[in-house]
Amino acid sequence: MKVVFATKNKDKLKEVREILAPDFEVISMTEAGVDIDVEEDGTTFEENAIKKAETVMKLCGEITIADDSGLEVDFLNGEPGVYSSRYMGEDTPYTIKNQAIIDRLKDARGSQRSARYTCAVAVALPGKYTLIVQESCEGEITKEPKGDNGFGYDPIFYVQRYKKTMAELTMEQKNKISHRGKAFRAVAERLRSIEFE
Ligand code: IMP
Repeated sequence: MKVVFATKNKDKLKEVREILAPDFEVISMTEAGVDIDVEEDGTTFEENAIKKAETVMKLCGEITIADDSGLEVDFLNGEPGVYSSRYMGEDTPYTIKNQAIIDRLKDARGSQRSARYTCAVAVALPGKYTLIVQESCEGEITKEPKGDNGFGYDPIFYVQRYKKTMAELTMEQKNKISHRGKAFRAVAERLRSIEFE
């Protein structure tokens, strides 16, 4: 089954292709002939995911998936949250963003360093409805960045199960436990149970 993934983030596209293969052929927005930037002006991950999926679905007429995700750091009252990609400016390198988070947590000890990645996925089904799934992955903010895999905040996100940062995991290991892996697998399950005429 062909689905359009409404994202311009190549890292996410790669991860999601891997998660949904072989049942679903994931095509990019560009491959579907859509080139727009949908403003993420919602206050929740769900709101942003629904807006992106429905906007792109109306333009291409295909089943369209969109996600909105981010890092919530408890010591920072949930920041950067829905503003994760825009935190300190969209073009600021993650080496700087990650160091800034470590610095803001200099007085946080043990469980005070808890954080989670959350991912909301919306699937806009043409002529039907939009389904929505949200999943999280718990972790802790490290005292220094480690690892070169993944992207974004992965070098400072420590995963207890592997005793490594997300950036030290292979993509296969990351997809097994990540917010996006869990949410997209749940979406695949839901799509398989829907009858398409
Ligand atoms: P979105 O593209 O609007 O969903 O923004 C997601 C942002 O959240 C990314 O640009 C990263 O800053 C952060 N983020 C979400 N998922 C991950 C992940 O798996 N690793 C690292 N950073 C992530």
